Amino acid sequence: MAKQILLNNINVPGLASYEVYRKLGGYSAVEKTLKNYTPDEVTAEVKKSGLRGRGGAGFPAGMKWGFIDKSTDNPRYFVCNFDESEPGTFKDRHIGQLNPHQLIEGMILGSYALGARSSYIYIRGELFYVLRIIEKAIDEAYRNGFLGENILGSGYSLDLHCHPGAGAYICGEETALIESLEGKRGNPRIKPPFPAIVGLYNCPTVVNNVETIANLPWIMNNGADAYAAIGIGNSNGTKLISACGHINKPGIYEIELGLPVKEFIYSDEYCGGILNGKKLKAVVAGGSSVPVLPAELILRTANGEPRLMSYESLSDGGFQSGTMLGSGGFIVMDETACIVKNLLTFSRFYHHESCGQCSPCREGTGWIEKILYRIESGKGSMKDIDLLTDIAKHIEGNTICPLGDAAAWPVASAIRHFREEFEDHIKLQRCPLSK
Ligand SMILES: Cc1cc2nc3c(=O)[nH]c(=O)nc-3n(C[C@H](O)[C@H](O)[C@H](O)COP(=O)(O)O)c2cc1C
Ligand code: SF4
Repeated sequence: MAKQILLNNINVPGLASYEVYRKLGGYSAVEKTLKNYTPDEVTAEVKKSGLRGRGGAGFPAGMKWGFIDKSTDNPRYFVCNFDESEPGTFKDRHIGQLNPHQLIEGMILGSYALGARSSYIYIRGELFYVLRIIEKAIDEAYRNGFLGENILGSGYSLDLHCHPGAGAYICGEETALIESLEGKRGNPRIKPPFPAIVGLYNCPTVVNNVETIANLPWIMNNGADAYAAIGIGNSNGTKLISACGHINKPGIYEIELGLPVKEFIYSDEYCGGILNGKKLKAVVAGGSSVPVLPAELILRTANGEPRLMSYESLSDGGFQSGTMLGSGGFIVMDETACIVKNLLTFSRFYHHESCGQCSPCREGTGWIEKILYRIESGKGSMKDIDLLTDIAKHIEGNTICPLGDAAAWPVASAIRHFREEFEDHIKLQRCPLSK
């Protein structure tokens, strides 16, 4: 059994309550940290642990905290990104629903490190039932002296708020989230300046993902070295993977980074192999935004090395033959899956969710959806394939936020690896996989 940091006690009845969480050692990291560490020492410990952001980009958490502007008297804010809306990704809600106090404990530690006096958990609007659970847990933390004035007599005070979004994917992008938290339309901001300098209410702000934050109590309890000893290369620690699609055991798994992809897909401990004994065709390894890889490239790199579940191994080969760990949404497709139809579904999503500020994204995502619909319904022409590639190329890198890239990468990779399937749709004037 792999090391468990996040799901260790997840099946303990009543874990969402303060009593049970506390009985299992909960909030001991706050007690230890407020007594023994200065805020800068907490940042140093997180840096040393090598913890990388689990929201998609994998940016080192401690390094991001180090960018915060401490030279002004302005308030600083620590914000938890609980917007989780990436198709295929459903791991954060598991923590929020079943183990909210671990997230709250992580919020206290991060807020202390940054010197924040007010912090926020921004939660996706559709997860209202999780918001209720978190609000109850926040209330319990206040009543037991872990939030509010002068926490445990340390002199440090913190208020924590949980704020619902209204169900827009773009509000997961950190600057759109900040705009939304300020009560405005969730439009991404042009960067720089980055939130560490100009963030919420124009004050220094760090935004971290739920899973990133939920790792903090373990790191402060067990030390940076113990955390860094888990994993492989620059992929330290464990990672939650939400696995779905044509597999025998869809679900949420905590893996040690470095696990071979083959073992993740085929072993009974994880996905349990392909449904009905069919053949693996393709995998989208890190949520809908990352390049799709065919079976041979998800199991082995272009050099023939076994592909591992790590930031480095999954991206080995760049976008020619690699992909990304992303947010950990692992979507498995068997031989019956139509790549064009899958891509059409993703593209419809991105078109719908584009905020509309930049023309390449606003117009391009719509064109991609239309062309894919044409090909999928048997009315496409061979020129459409190159047209799709061209549109994707013109979106990539030319927009305010990475939603544009997220819409372009799946298109480029699907054509790169499955061009024949696009051509067959056009030649046969129907989906070659439908009877
Ligand atoms: C369109 C879009 C949607 C995003 N959605 C989320 C999300 O739901 N949750 C999340 O943590 N990060 C999301 N991100 C990434 C955030 O902008 C940001 O990088 C992340 O919250 C930083 O936290 P981390 O460093 O702990 O990963 C999204 C990014 C984009 C471009
Ligand atoms: S890339 Fe798309 S979602 Fe992002 S700011 Fe531009 S239009 Fe909005």
